[in-house]
Amino acid sequence: MAAPAAPAAPRAVRNVVFVDGVRTPFGKAGPKGMYAETRADDLVVKVIRELLRRHPELPAERVDEVAVAATTQIGDQGLTIGRTAAILAGLPKSVPGYAIDRMCAGAMTAVTTSASGIAFGAYDVVIAGGVEHMGRHPMGEGVDPNPRFLADKLVDPSALVMGQTAENLHDRFPHLTKERADAYAVASQAKYAAALKAGKISADLVPVATRSAEHGWGLATADEPPRPGTTMEALAGLKTSFRPHGRVTAGNSAGLNDGATAALLADEETAAELGLPVGMRLVGYSFAGVDPEVMGVGPVPATEKALRRAGLTIDDIGLFEINEAFAVQVLAFLDHFGIADDDPRVNPWGGAIACGHPLASSGVRLMTQLSRHFAERPDVRYGITTMCIGIGMGGTVIWENPHWNGGDK
Ligand SMILES: CC(C)(COP(=O)(O)OP(=O)(O)OC[C@H]1O[C@@H](n2cnc3c(N)ncnc32)[C@H](O)[C@@H]1OP(=O)(O)O)[C@@H](O)C(=O)NCCC(=O)NCCS
Repeated sequence: MAAPAAPAAPRAVRNVVFVDGVRTPFGKAGPKGMYAETRADDLVVKVIRELLRRHPELPAERVDEVAVAATTQIGDQGLTIGRTAAILAGLPKSVPGYAIDRMCAGAMTAVTTSASGIAFGAYDVVIAGGVEHMGRHPMGEGVDPNPRFLADKLVDPSALVMGQTAENLHDRFPHLTKERADAYAVASQAKYAAALKAGKISADLVPVATRSAEHGWGLATADEPPRPGTTMEALAGLKTSFRPHGRVTAGNSAGLNDGATAALLADEETAAELGLPVGMRLVGYSFAGVDPEVMGVGPVPATEKALRRAGLTIDDIGLFEINEAFAVQVLAFLDHFGIADDDPRVNPWGGAIACGHPLASSGVRLMTQLSRHFAERPDVRYGITTMCIGIGMGGTVIWENPHWNGGDK
């Protein structure tokens, strides 16, 4: 038998950089939301086109892959959305694309998967992002969970309702009280409002033309969900949405939202060749599973695994962008690592409780935000983006600041 062919060239893992990221303004899902009559795939087209517009140094034919995530992959989020959105965005038809799903961590997985392709040498430049139009595609649309999940007691019945998993976290960690969750939410709204005022948020938004049969044409230029001026008193009076006398409310959860994100990633040498800026360097990533009924703790083992594999500790991390699906889930993460609820390293410009969480799009919002922080914080060397994921998972990506000045962290 012939010996297997030797590889054409020795393999070497290549460095991957996050060049840039953009997003649409996030909307409130539902008939009154600003994207009620806007297609999900058109939101993706906007973010792809914006990346190309911001980077004329990148010839479109040098994009090797377009990976776009969506949780509900039907209708205007179906049909292999990475491929269809790439064609609609005017990329050359020689540029392939695909769709990806890991629920809330869809865009995060689009990044880690396509970045791994760059590291392996299969691609030089990719576009990775995500979309969720929760108005056109409500959570759970068309799903058909296998009855064995419950019949065989594989998961608790609450596992499929994210808000109930957040209540379960409050049960598991009684010291993470509703008051702490509400205080965290108030702070998220306040930090977001301050960042917006300081011009930090709008820089990454691509305006989207909207239409409404009732109101005519419009232009979405700002996030719709934020509630500036939110107070503890107002939150204390809200009903608990997922359990009578529970702790999880519309005020301390992310809402139901519409939006899209996209990022440009490249092999570091290709970025230098093309003159693409380097926003962040990928250090490593991990995903981990937990009991689905407490999916909110997912970021804990995912972060421990990612840190261990990277040879770092939590003390090496100078900035955290953690998705705020629910305040209690962020608190569970902070509590585990001994980080204060109001630590300034955590979501310095607010989070999803304020700006919204269109499921599969959010991972790239976290990354885009972290790369903006890095540019302003040369004293910080490492940051992480992390999020909890439905059906009991967490995902964490560790990034290095290319602007690091050799200081402490
Ligand atoms: C929590 C949830 C059920 C609330 O849905 P909703 O009831 O439609 O939310 P609304 O925006 O209508 O808010 C409910 C009420 O709270 C009020 N409210 C919301 N946020 C508030 C704030 N920050 N301050 C004061 N009031 C607030 C609203 O004004 C509204 O009041 P009203 O009933 O008098 O009109 C929904 O947002 C949800 O399911 N979130 C979780 C999404 C999710 O699971 N994502 C995946 C994560 S893994």
